[in-house]
Amino acid sequence: MNDLKQVTHIDNVRLGEDKRSVVIIDQTQLPSRTEYLTLRTAKDIYDAIFELKVRGAPAIGICAGFGIYILARTIEAGNYQEFHQQFCKYRDYLNSARPTAVNLSWALNRMERVVAGHKEQGLNEILKLLEQECLEIQREDMEMCRAISEHGLSLLKDGDGILTHCNAGPLATSRYGTALGPLFLGKERGMEFKVFADETRPLLQGARLTSYELQKAGIDVTLICDNMASLVMKNGWIQACLVGCDRVAANGDTANKIGTSGVAVLAKYYGIPFYVLGPSSTIDLNCRTGEEIRIELRSQDEIKKKFYESPMAPEEVKCYNPAFDVTDHSLITAIITERGICYPPYTESLAIHKDR
Ligand code: MRU
Repeated sequence: MNDLKQVTHIDNVRLGEDKRSVVIIDQTQLPSRTEYLTLRTAKDIYDAIFELKVRGAPAIGICAGFGIYILARTIEAGNYQEFHQQFCKYRDYLNSARPTAVNLSWALNRMERVVAGHKEQGLNEILKLLEQECLEIQREDMEMCRAISEHGLSLLKDGDGILTHCNAGPLATSRYGTALGPLFLGKERGMEFKVFADETRPLLQGARLTSYELQKAGIDVTLICDNMASLVMKNGWIQACLVGCDRVAANGDTANKIGTSGVAVLAKYYGIPFYVLGPSSTIDLNCRTGEEIRIELRSQDEIKKKFYESPMAPEEVKCYNPAFDVTDHSLITAIITERGICYPPYTESLAIHKDR
């Protein structure tokens, strides 16, 4: 395998060979160590999602799909009702790990529909169908990432300067990734880009993961602090911004990693196209606008202590640590999914797009 393939074809989340575990790359250890974790219990899976050992909206969905399947195999039930009840308890527990990325509930509900749709089958048959479904969720994600990458690449030119925020690469998905997918695909075809990766405070997904993935694939990447984005845009070094998404409302308002909306405001000011890339499963037509998207609040220690040898702020100082923000649809040039490129007005284009 060449270096590019070693990035785009990793198994960051997979079903264990015994079908009683989920194996993930622990993303909190990257880039220093590539460590695999074996998750066996509901708490293992919940903690891995909550602590961002597995992270990125599609990867969370895939992990939850495998997770609920292995948990379903442990249910000791005398009949279908008991099985379904316990299955829904696991679903609700895993779903409570993180609130913003719709892919988590989307994958869990998709698995639950398999159970609900086969009441008259034996439990062994239901387990077989659940196994097929979780593998299918992952297989579809691989296909979607590839298609998103093709559509995204059609918007870029050889030599373009690109700014990205957080990490929406292979680690966050399956195979190519979403926002980084066009860059890997372009590289495969001999194109060169100059990428600027926002470090992405406070959990540093850009510094730890995006710069790692791009560098390993031989793509020209420069790491910047989040507050340097304006300067690199002003310098004329950026021709497009590419970001992922955790939930896209019906009107195009998009929740993504905290700091994304600031990048979009800057891009508008400097006249740079701002593209959101993600699978159609991330579009949530039940949310009319971004106002209805629940934003995850996380511990203040992530700001004050994490990544520092000793606390770097006064112990008692108040902190506000939202994990995501919502980019207003008016700042987004286009939303790219596996089905194509959606342009404003999003209320129309996303509805048609999601239904196709
Ligand atoms: O908190 P994280 O690291 O899970 O946040 C991830 C993001 O915001 C990504 O941009 C998004 O999930 C898209 S990943 C393809």
